[in-house]
Amino acid sequence: MQICVIGTGFVGVVTAAVFSSFGHQVIGLDVLPDKIEKLKQGIVPFFEPGLKELLQEQQKTGNLTFTTSYEDAIKNSDVIMLAVGTPSSAEGAVDLKYVFSAAESLAPYLKPNAIVAIKSTVPPGTLNSVAEKIKAKTKTAFEMASLPEFLREGTAVQDTLHPDRVVIGSSSEAAAKTLEELHKSFKAPIFHVRPESAQMAKYSANAYLALRIAFINQVADLCEENGADVMEVIKVIGADRRIGDHYWYPGLGYGGSCFPKDVKELAAYSRTVGQANNLLNHLNLINEERIPKLIANWGSKLGGWNGKKVAVLGVAFKPHTDDVRESPALKVVPALLADGATVSAYDPRVEASDMVMAALSGGSEAHAKNVSLSNELLTTIQDADVILALVEWPEIVEFDFAGKKPSTAQWFIDARNQFDAHTLTKAGYNYLGIGRPSHA
Ligand code: UDX
Repeated sequence: MQICVIGTGFVGVVTAAVFSSFGHQVIGLDVLPDKIEKLKQGIVPFFEPGLKELLQEQQKTGNLTFTTSYEDAIKNSDVIMLAVGTPSSAEGAVDLKYVFSAAESLAPYLKPNAIVAIKSTVPPGTLNSVAEKIKAKTKTAFEMASLPEFLREGTAVQDTLHPDRVVIGSSSEAAAKTLEELHKSFKAPIFHVRPESAQMAKYSANAYLALRIAFINQVADLCEENGADVMEVIKVIGADRRIGDHYWYPGLGYGGSCFPKDVKELAAYSRTVGQANNLLNHLNLINEERIPKLIANWGSKLGGWNGKKVAVLGVAFKPHTDDVRESPALKVVPALLADGATVSAYDPRVEASDMVMAALSGGSEAHAKNVSLSNELLTTIQDADVILALVEWPEIVEFDFAGKKPSTAQWFIDARNQFDAHTLTKAGYNYLGIGRPSHA
């Protein structure tokens, strides 16, 4: 089968490489010539474990190519997957301009009965509006489907190769059958649903996981008031098989390119259908309040941030990625600088580009001189007053902060509950975790 994947961002490149690895002819299409030029040379413009290797391997087989030409990419494709960006409007609603413009651009070149499948996360109802845009530009018959993805950054290749489920949302039996055939190699359960159900399932899965994180963070806050340890609480409630203790560590709230955006979009959608006061409309606020509250709380425990040298460990929003979108560091560091601290940040992958440094300093030129970013952990922590571990990178979690105490820091803030409190306390740090008794 020939597949065209439109949009060579994170989801598009992973999807293209994985379908190619199953023996399909895949053409990746993007309107940005620089991006396509890099991809043609086997260069992935972001870090994702295993992706560069898979991409280069598939390019060598001749199954995977890239182009900026709609005509070349569409005219022989049986399935066209839209994986273009869906930015958010100021009110948090999804902006579908790239989805619509891709639909209009592909329409003139459609092969009869080709399937246009939307991978981008879009609200219910979008399939119809995309179909209208296409129909306005062609008389060729085509089918529509929703094909949401559930991949996580850092494990995207594995998640795509071995998904928990495949969701095919289409009201056309023929399209559903072809897409089922296409997804057989994944050996995952396939759900045939209405397009609206597929779209609601995608948003709700992310909103539920975000809610789960917000919930345990609020439980952690209560634990801090009474000497309970939230990690013990998680073990106990997680033993209930209806709940489980997986995917449930408290911390700085959820970040990344999906949860904050999807929660806001589902909340915005709720408002459009008259449900402005539902859970989703409160969830984002709870998440956004979390980091400022934690900074104030830690600051009061360690005698204020003013004049403190803080080593901030982890700038990406999570381990195994260099993605800083909605990353805790980009909220924590500007807040610390505004409170008078100096910050040396560390991340094994994120480089000190102008964009990252501007974001870390909160866009303030006055604060920019008080922040640095390095890929060297030891030098980052050596003369710090406070170590603030934000991300559970193996390079951070496995580092020996206790033996021969490598840092002058008196305080160790474990914002992901990854470290042994007793060991760090014995080594001379005042330990602060999330929702855990203080061992100071
Ligand atoms: C998420 C979904 O997991 C994925 O299915 C969807 O397709 C895209 O969004 P991703 O954003 O890559 O994937 O990261 P994930 O590992 O799920 O973490 C999201 C955020 O939640 C991160 O900020 C993470 O630190 C936080 N998190 C996650 C917690 O705070 N506690 C947890 O127990 C799990």
